[in-house]
Amino acid sequence: MHDFYYKKGELYCEQVPVAEIAEQVGTPFYLYSRKTITEHYAKLAKAFRSANPLICFSMKSNSNLAFLATLIREGAGLDIVSGGELYRALNAGCPPEKIVYAGVGKTKAEIAQAIDAGILLFNVESIPELETIDAIARSKRKVVNVSLRINPDIDPKTHRHITTGKKGTKFGIDFQTAFEIYLERGDLPNLNIAGIHVHIGSQITSGEPFVKALKKVLDFIKALEKEKIRIQYLNLGGGLAAVYHEEKPQRADQYAAKILPLIRKTRFADRKRRQGMLIFEPGRFIAANSGIFVTSVLYVKKTREKNFIIVDGGMNDLIRPALYDAYHEIVPVREHEKTSTVMLSDVVGPICESGDFLGTGRKLPSGLNSGDLLAVFGAGAYGFTMASQYNSRPRPPEVMASGRYFEVVRTRETYRDLIRGERPPIF
Ligand SMILES: Cc1ncc(COP(=O)(O)O)c(C=O)c1O
Repeated sequence: MHDFYYKKGELYCEQVPVAEIAEQVGTPFYLYSRKTITEHYAKLAKAFRSANPLICFSMKSNSNLAFLATLIREGAGLDIVSGGELYRALNAGCPPEKIVYAGVGKTKAEIAQAIDAGILLFNVESIPELETIDAIARSKRKVVNVSLRINPDIDPKTHRHITTGKKGTKFGIDFQTAFEIYLERGDLPNLNIAGIHVHIGSQITSGEPFVKALKKVLDFIKALEKEKIRIQYLNLGGGLAAVYHEEKPQRADQYAAKILPLIRKTRFADRKRRQGMLIFEPGRFIAANSGIFVTSVLYVKKTREKNFIIVDGGMNDLIRPALYDAYHEIVPVREHEKTSTVMLSDVVGPICESGDFLGTGRKLPSGLNSGDLLAVFGAGAYGFTMASQYNSRPRPPEVMASGRYFEVVRTRETYRDLIRGERPPIF
């Protein structure tokens, strides 16, 4: 599942002792395993081999250039949601014809940049957005590919903040409206409205919501075909869960075993022979367990109620526990004697908020002391990308290991970075 493991009581990433990296780069830091990244990608690609899909890694989960370049080299495309992500995608070497662009609030400037770059398609979320893209494409004398993002009104049974395919969320277009748009697509001559996109949410552990959504979409495609409207791109989004704690999510092959039979008779069953393109946008399935967050113990504070292990990384570095109550396993980088007693502790950061914790009520060795290292697992997705400089704390470095080597792939920010672009007023 990943390449972080203990050998002789020491945590390793691939063949590199994590403590050795900490000694060289300081703490806190993010650490990614190149091998895990490529293996997770390969699992999905292999499971859907017969359909030969375009797997567009959802770079909002991890947008480090080294992380992206690793996947691009394996054949991945990218799912982007902003002009900034487009800039990163192109800098990481992603072929534009492998880029899909989602998001409810694309600006005119961002749309123009994406058209100029020649991306594969826009996943469009509203009628005014369609009209805007059409107008910009016309001004550039271009015809651009567009998928309509459908809101299929499916409950993905996940955290409400990452539920995106239910009525009442801001995402997508309902089937009825989408049908009308396809029928009247002649009114938007600079758009090739040729795709359907669904992304119903994130951290979805069972296949059932995906199957429900896909069945609705396939019925919709049939209805369109009766009107002689041909769908070329079928984008099933991301959402496949990662293991953070005790979840037992479906594996990629189990997911494929549910999806492939449903599309067997469609043009999406085989990109080469039938010319329909199946697209996925996995984020955390690839990234979450490809990375850990490493932090040092500053103080162990024992109170009458509980123990606090105060570390040098906090919600500014990894906000998921505070934001979603997300569980991340926390382990010492140097294993303590099996016989050592455990203490129930909250692992908390230095930020001035009660919500600043990485984990609560954790069993950790009672011998933990100032300077000891802790590793927070499952931190490769929505970790660094959601990090901030809150409390004026420079963001941590990102490191990638491969075999016996490691490299800093984003340097630690400095105090100078904190004030970049700011100045006292001149009035
Ligand atoms: C449109 C879209 N695609 C893909 C993803 C990736 O989701 P996940 O990381 O759960 O695979 C997201 C996440 O928010 C998304 O909004």
